[in-house]
Amino acid sequence: MSAETTPIVVENVGYEYDSGLSKHHVLRDVSLKIEAGEIVILTGPSGSGKTTLITLIGALRAMQAGSIKIFGNELHKASQRALMKTRRHIGFIFQQHNLLDYLTVAQNISMSMSLGPGLSGAKARTRIEEVLDQVGLAAHIDKYPDALSGGQKQRVGIARALANGPKMILADEPTASLDRESGRNVVNLIQTLCREQGASVVMVTHDNRILDVADRILHLEDGQIQSISAAVASSTSQMLKLLNRHDPEAAHYMAAFTQALTRVALADDNMDDQERDAIKTILIQHSDLQQSEVELVMEMAMSQVRCRSLPGQGGTPAFTPEQSRKFLASLHAVAAADGDVSEQELQEIALIARELGFDVTSPGATASG
Ligand SMILES: Nc1ncnc2c1ncn2[C@@H]1O[C@H](COP(=O)(O)OP(=O)(O)OP(=O)(O)O)[C@@H](O)[C@H]1O
Ligand SMILES: [Mg+2]
Repeated sequence: MSAETTPIVVENVGYEYDSGLSKHHVLRDVSLKIEAGEIVILTGPSGSGKTTLITLIGALRAMQAGSIKIFGNELHKASQRALMKTRRHIGFIFQQHNLLDYLTVAQNISMSMSLGPGLSGAKARTRIEEVLDQVGLAAHIDKYPDALSGGQKQRVGIARALANGPKMILADEPTASLDRESGRNVVNLIQTLCREQGASVVMVTHDNRILDVADRILHLEDGQIQSISAAVASSTSQMLKLLNRHDPEAAHYMAAFTQALTRVALADDNMDDQERDAIKTILIQHSDLQQSEVELVMEMAMSQVRCRSLPGQGGTPAFTPEQSRKFLASLHAVAAADGDVSEQELQEIALIARELGFDVTSPGATASG
């Protein structure tokens, strides 16, 4: 296992479940790479194939199409023995902690260690004490799972996953059964351990509150990986469309109102928490929107306001010449889409170009296509 080998390389992976009568395509042509020390969060709607993908990466499920290399070892068509060897380098954390009730905490952990590099008696006990200490449960080593809270059981699950010093951690909804605070602790713990041991982490979650630990977020939709910006854009536009259809006048008013509030708060190039809270409070008072919707509308307005005030300031062009050229060409393409470019449309393009600090005279700036 050389240091440079990318721990996870997934290429063109497809997967389908065959339910006798029909075939259900779950993953289509999925490709991704995850480096050592990287924390990747995998999101996506229920049924989008997250668990299927993570169990394929973990060599827990037989592959059908494509290639997955874990630490350089190909899993497709690998022997059972080779798959087992790969699994030993991986720590698994599942939504259900899967502890055996009739074994103590120490015995539960040692069960998974016996699958790993066999440590004998006293050494194993020391290692178990060590990992339990890392998750803050040293005092509970000889208790039975029944005597632990949900969060504590989940942490035992993490200690067990770490016991073999894995180079990779695969976690499927590790915080799903936890309250907010225990969930946060569990995730912080995974993050610290990943940073300290240089392990790669792939974590499936529905929990938006923990997305910030990720170095990268991958979104599965219809069996394919989407970038997070595409995912956010599609759900945002869906929401705005809904809002528009529901109450067009209100939506228009809200958009203008939010933008104006945001512009004022951002006028000094800085929005602090008090200003942010003030805007939220006003928006909630003036609309039927929920807290989360207000936050979304605000984020949208902020990015729009920033985008308007960003370019051309301080003499630094905000976009590359290539971006500017494509930007302008696209504006022209839209103007021409109805077969006729009007004078007003040309004026609007010139205005936008000035606002954004584009050099309209540069060669190709107004070329279409
Ligand atoms: N053993 C199985 N047999 C047939 N279909 C299955 C099987 N396991 C999963 N599926 C189907 O495959 C699809 C993907 O399942 P998967 O468990 O990977 O989704 P998921 O993204 O993890 O969803 P969730 O967020 O609900 O856990 C679903 O439509 C599911 O019904
Ligand atoms: Mg799942």
